[in-house]
Amino acid sequence: MHELVNAVRILRAGFIFPEPQIIDIANNFKKAMTDGLAGKDSSLKMLPSFLAKPTGQEKGIYAAIDFGGTNVRILTVEIKGNGEYQTLKRHLFPLRDRGKGYDFTSREATGQELFEFIAGHIASMLSPGLTYPLGFTFSFPSRQISVNRAILIKWTKEIQTSGVEGHDITEILQKALASKNLKQVIPQAIINDTVGTLLTSSYGDRHTDMGSICGTGHNTCYIEPNSPFTGQPMIINMESGNFNELPATDYDMQLDKQSRIPGEQRLEKMIGGQYIGELTRIIIQDFINQNLLFASNRPQIFFTPYAIKAEDIAGLLADESPDLTDVAQWLKTTCQINNSLLEERITLRTIASIVIIRSIQIVAATYTGIIKHIDPHFENHHTIAIDGSLYELMPGYANKLYTTLKNIFKDKSDLITIKLTKDGSGVGAAIAAAIVND
Ligand code: GLC
Repeated sequence: MHELVNAVRILRAGFIFPEPQIIDIANNFKKAMTDGLAGKDSSLKMLPSFLAKPTGQEKGIYAAIDFGGTNVRILTVEIKGNGEYQTLKRHLFPLRDRGKGYDFTSREATGQELFEFIAGHIASMLSPGLTYPLGFTFSFPSRQISVNRAILIKWTKEIQTSGVEGHDITEILQKALASKNLKQVIPQAIINDTVGTLLTSSYGDRHTDMGSICGTGHNTCYIEPNSPFTGQPMIINMESGNFNELPATDYDMQLDKQSRIPGEQRLEKMIGGQYIGELTRIIIQDFINQNLLFASNRPQIFFTPYAIKAEDIAGLLADESPDLTDVAQWLKTTCQINNSLLEERITLRTIASIVIIRSIQIVAATYTGIIKHIDPHFENHHTIAIDGSLYELMPGYANKLYTTLKNIFKDKSDLITIKLTKDGSGVGAAIAAAIVND
C-alpha cells in the first residue's frame, strides 16, 4: 500500500503546477500570442475573424448553423436589440447514424454530400415568405479571408470528410443551398465557436473580451485592441488548443503519439473532454502494469484506448461518499471488478482529480496570458464567456477555475467575471450575421 501512496505522490508532483509555474506558462502563452500576431513562428495561429463586438442594438431574424463536431445544430434566432435575443427554433441532428446507414464524417463522404445533408435540414426550419440571413459557426481551424469566407486548414476532432480541407467553406455551403433551391437563405458570416460565444455574451455585456470553449475540444478567442489586419479592434481566434510550450509527462507523450494528429493540439490533448478520459486510462493502465492496482486482475477497459470517457471521470469526481460507493458501482458494472478495495477506489478518484486540476490550471494560465496581453496594468473589467460540457458539467471545474484565477490576480480578481454562455456558439453566428447586415 505504501508503494501505491508513493506512486500517487509522484504522479501529483508531475502533474500539478505550483503557482509560479502557472505564471510561467501564462507568460509563454502571451509571448506566443504576440509572435503569432506578428507573423513569427508560433504554435498559436491567431486567426482574424474580421468582426469586432456587436453594439447590442442589432436586430432581425436570422438562421444559424452550428457545426463543430459530429452533431450539427440549426437555429433560427430573433435578435431583438437592447442586448436581448431569443432562439425561435432549434434542431439537432447527427452527421452519422449507423442504424440509418449514413456517415458524412468519413473519408468516403464528400464535402458536397455533407453540406447538402446540412442544407436539407435547414429547409425544414424556415417559415414561408421570409428571407434568412445566415451565420455559420464552423469550429475547425480555418483561414479566414473575410467575414464570410474561410478556408478549412485541417479537420480536427473526428471529421475526415473528403474534399473540404483547403477549400472555401462558404462556397461549398452556397452550392449546397442552391442545390436544395434555398434562395431565401443567404450566408453572411462564418465564425469559430469561440467567436460565437464571445459575440453572444458581449451582445449584452460590454465587458466581455474573451470567448472560450471548454468542452470536447478547447479553444479561446479574444478582442485584440490593435489588430495587425486593420489596426482596429478585432476578435482573434487563437486556436489555443494547439499551444505547445507545456511541461508534458510521459503519459501525455504516449497519448499524443497514439493520437490521429501527433504533435498537434498539444494543449487540447492535456485538457479537453475528448482526452481527459483517455489520459486517466493511460495512467491507470500504468498503475496496473506496476501491480499497484487490482491485484493480478487486468480489466479490459483500462487496456482499450478511449474506452473511458469524460462522463466516467465526471461520475468518479461526483462521488463524495466516504466509501466511494458510486465508484465501486462503476467498477462493478463498467469495469467488471466486483471486489475493489477502498484504497483502489480512492486512487482512481485521485488520479481523475489530478488530471482535471491540471486541465483547469492550464486553462487558467492561458486566460492569464491573454489578460496580461490586453491589459498589462490590469485596470479593466474582463468577462470571460465560456461554453462547453467540461466547464458546465465536470464536478468542481467551474469553481476551481475561478479560485485558480482568484489566487493569481489576488485582490484585483474582482475585475474578472466568468460567465457560462450556453448555446453561445450557435446564437453567436446569428449575431455575426446581424452585425454584417446592420
Ligand atoms: C478545436 C477546434 C477549434 C474549436 C475547438 C472547440 O480545438 O480546432 O476551432 O474552437 O475545438 O470546439
